[in-house]
Formats: sequence, C-alpha cells, structure tokens
Amino acid sequence: MTTESVASSQSTIVSSDAGSQPLLIENLTKCFAQGDKRVLALNGVSAEVNQSEFVAIMGASGSGKSTLLNLIAGITQPDQGRVLIDGTEITSLRDPALTRFRRRKIGLVFQSFNLIPTLTARDNILLPVLAGGEQGPLSVNELLERIGLQDRATHRPDALSGGEQQRIAIARALISDPALLLADEPTGSLDSVTSQTICRLMKELRDDLGRTVIVVTHEPDVAMWADRVIVLRDGQKLTEFETKQFPDAQALAAFYQETVLSSGSGAEIL
Ligand SMILES: Nc1ncnc2c1ncn2[C@@H]1O[C@H](COP(=O)(O)OP(=O)(O)OP(=O)(O)O)[C@@H](O)[C@H]1O
Ligand SMILES: [Mg+2]
Repeated sequence: MTTESVASSQSTIVSSDAGSQPLLIENLTKCFAQGDKRVLALNGVSAEVNQSEFVAIMGASGSGKSTLLNLIAGITQPDQGRVLIDGTEITSLRDPALTRFRRRKIGLVFQSFNLIPTLTARDNILLPVLAGGEQGPLSVNELLERIGLQDRATHRPDALSGGEQQRIAIARALISDPALLLADEPTGSLDSVTSQTICRLMKELRDDLGRTVIVVTHEPDVAMWADRVIVLRDGQKLTEFETKQFPDAQALAAFYQETVLSSGSGAEIL
C-alpha cells in the first residue's frame, strides 16, 4: 500500500474556513488523581501540526494519546501549557465560547464512539447540525454511502455492530466539515478493508479539502496514510518522523517497534 494510491474524491469541493495557521501544542502537562496517587498523563508535550497536514499519534496503551487529543479539543483543561488552533488559544476558552469554537472548527471521533442510544444512525450523524452547527459539502446520505452504511440509516446504535457504530461516529465528525478532525483510534473496531476505506476518506479530506487530520492509532497500516507520526511514551513526546521514508506499513512498524523498545521506560506516578 502506498499513500499515493488514493482514489480521488467524488464530492463537490467547497472551501470552508479551514484557517491558515499551524496548530500549536505548547508544553502540555496533565495530571490525574487515581486514588491517593497522581498520574502524570502528559508531561510537557510540544508539537506543531500544519494546516492540511495528516498526523498520526502512536504510543503504547496509557502513554497519553487520548489525553493529548482531549486537550487539543478543549474537552480537558491542561495543568500547564496551551493549544492554539488557527491562532485561538482553545485552552483558555470557556463555555459558551468553547462549545461554539469546537462546533465551528473541530470534528471529534471518540475512542468510545459516544453515540446517542435513542437516535437513529442518520440522526446521530446529523447531531452537530441539529445542535446549531453548519452542514458541510457532504450530505448525510453521501456520508452514509461513503462509509458503506446507506442501509443502516434508521437503525439505532444497539442494532449496529461495533464497527458500524464507529463508522457512524466518524460520519458525525465529518457532517459539519470541520477544519480539524481529531479521531481517537477511529479504525480500532474495523476490519482491514473498512479501515482502509476510512483512512482514504480522511486522506481525501486533507488532499481535496485542505483539512487538518490528527488520528490516534496503534496500527501501522493506518499511520502509513499520515504524513507524519508523533510517538508518545509515558506522557512525553519520544520522537516524530515522516512516513514517506518507508516503503510500506511493515517497514514503518519495524522502525516504530525498534524506536519504542530502544528507549527507556519511566511512567511517572507522583
Ligand atoms: N480521567 C482520568 N482519571 C484518572 N487517570 C486517567 C484519566 N484519563 C487518563 N488517565 C491515566 O492517564 C494515563 C494516560 O491515559 P490515556 O487515556 O491518555 O492513554 P492512551 O495512550 O490513550 O491509552 P490507550 O491506548 O489505552 O487508549 C493512563 O495512565 C491513564 O490511566
Ligand atoms: Mg486512548
């Protein structure tokens, strides 16, 4: 597989307010209480993601990937550091400005899907629009078709498989055409063919619409679609590398394993 072999998008290309400044992550630190202990989930992480860049975040379970994504989305507040999205410091925004900003700029795919159980697949996808967001160039029917679930539009989440729920969560994140898509293991419950379809869709967002995509993943096959990989270890940025240096996902996987295994451990419990 190569990142070049991407089918071109059939959607009408409509430019939206994607912003032009890089996403800045500055010295993010976040501690959580766990009983009488405190866990340093993120410890001074800094990174920069350019507009229209597709970045994968990799790292072992517990290395801080979801914490980082939640801080970028403004769902969690950092103890230290800040995140700037297109010049706006999201880490200093509070509701209702924070919700407004997120609705306008960010599409989020949670690790746990977070679908509303009483709503159909169609209405779950439309939720950001029903909540006052603007609909992007892809209609709900087009999105259902792209994710291969046209015939599941009226099903409720409990009548959908894990992989189907995951695809609905992805379509929900895309309905308002966000400038920034944040996805936490969006292919974790998918078979390899469906997973590649979702990766292609995310790559098209970046190639054809200029969107910025940040994906947390454990899978080298998924990371290979990205331009760059940021590796976390024990709440710190271990390294980052470009994917174009690798001929295939196996080569990326081998490099990743070697890099992670050759570094020291040091999960910090305070
Ligand atoms: N709300 C929370 N309360 C207490 N501890 C937390 C909380 N969220 C995360 N942690 C801890 O912070 C560390 C990083 O968690 P995080 O969820 O960011 O890891 P992750 O890299 O996303 O892991 P996974 O690959 O398993 O999803 C872990 O040790 C976790 O137990
Ligand atoms: Mg996680």
